[in-house]
Amino acid sequence: SKKHYPFYMEKEISEQPEVIEKTIRSRIKDGLPDFSADGVDDSIFTECENITVIACGTAMHAGLIGKHLIEKACAVPVNVYMASEYMYCDPIVSDKTLVICVSQSGETIDTLEALKYAKSKGAKTLSIVNVKGSSIAMTSDNVIYTNAGPEIAVASTKAYTTQVAVFYLITAKTALLRGCFNEDETKSFVNELEKIPQAVDDILQRKDEIHHLSQSLLTAEHTFMIGRGLDYPALLEASLKLKEISYIHSEAFASGELKHGTIALIIKKTPVIALLTQEKLMSKQISNIREVESRGATVISFVKDGLQTKDINPDFILPNLNDDFMAIPAVVAMQLLAYYVSADKGLDVDKPRNLAKVVTVE
Ligand code: F6R
Repeated sequence: SKKHYPFYMEKEISEQPEVIEKTIRSRIKDGLPDFSADGVDDSIFTECENITVIACGTAMHAGLIGKHLIEKACAVPVNVYMASEYMYCDPIVSDKTLVICVSQSGETIDTLEALKYAKSKGAKTLSIVNVKGSSIAMTSDNVIYTNAGPEIAVASTKAYTTQVAVFYLITAKTALLRGCFNEDETKSFVNELEKIPQAVDDILQRKDEIHHLSQSLLTAEHTFMIGRGLDYPALLEASLKLKEISYIHSEAFASGELKHGTIALIIKKTPVIALLTQEKLMSKQISNIREVESRGATVISFVKDGLQTKDINPDFILPNLNDDFMAIPAVVAMQLLAYYVSADKGLDVDKPRNLAKVVTVE
């Protein structure tokens, strides 16, 4: 049931501290990542020469965060494919490839077909799935279940954040096994992961601030979202959320790419949402914000606590975690933003037009 919440989406957003905690808790032993209860053989993380993530929509956005994390920590090349494109791209796949499929429902046909194709080419397969016993889970050699519980709202929220949480564990495990992290480094990475539920809770406690910010988007037809590094894939997800439930056209851009064409669309009062959680990219991101402001854009900024400077006056301050761990809190703030726009427009938040929870046509 929705309990006292007007929509399942708000209930599911609120459950995130608890379900993220549940997803990671059983997979941390003595401060280190441990998939033995999942029956996942460590060798899949050590024997591969490359990793391919296959998924659709929000699940694919979780994969893009995973790519950043794994490549940075483990120096293994990671490709992320939209499942519908994968097998038509002549992908490089062999028994040296670890294929990771990501799916809430475990029934998305494009992802399932891509998984079967990869298996037929000899790839080792691991799936991150929410629904127990689903087709993708049953077809895959290894499964790590997200413990998000049933997700009813069409727009995915808690499934996404638990998928990303699993990618942190996979990153820690792979880095440790491959000798990229020593035990202490792995423990401190896992320790930072354990702070995420609290950081998400902190945002939920301040949801009225986000509700207030959302009002400036109610009449918007277009919006752009800009960020660099890990903030870019987080904004791809934020942008999808806003589009699907509020029907506002939104595009996420890696900030530096904007001036290669899209900045032509920025005019007086165009809302631009800027995310700043990556310290090493602050000054570049601030100059990109100036570029759109000088074309008249109205910027709404979400800034990690500690990174606010005299050059940026944050509209919303995100909790302070290590930069690599900001993707989950940032997306939760954006889920709330999209939610309030949709609800305040009087739309059917849980059942947006033209969409189905499970997509079983190719
Ligand atoms: C968006 C959304 C979709 C799904 C996509 C994959 O909010 O929910 O983009 O993420 O259809 O679905 P699963 O994860 O069930 O394979």
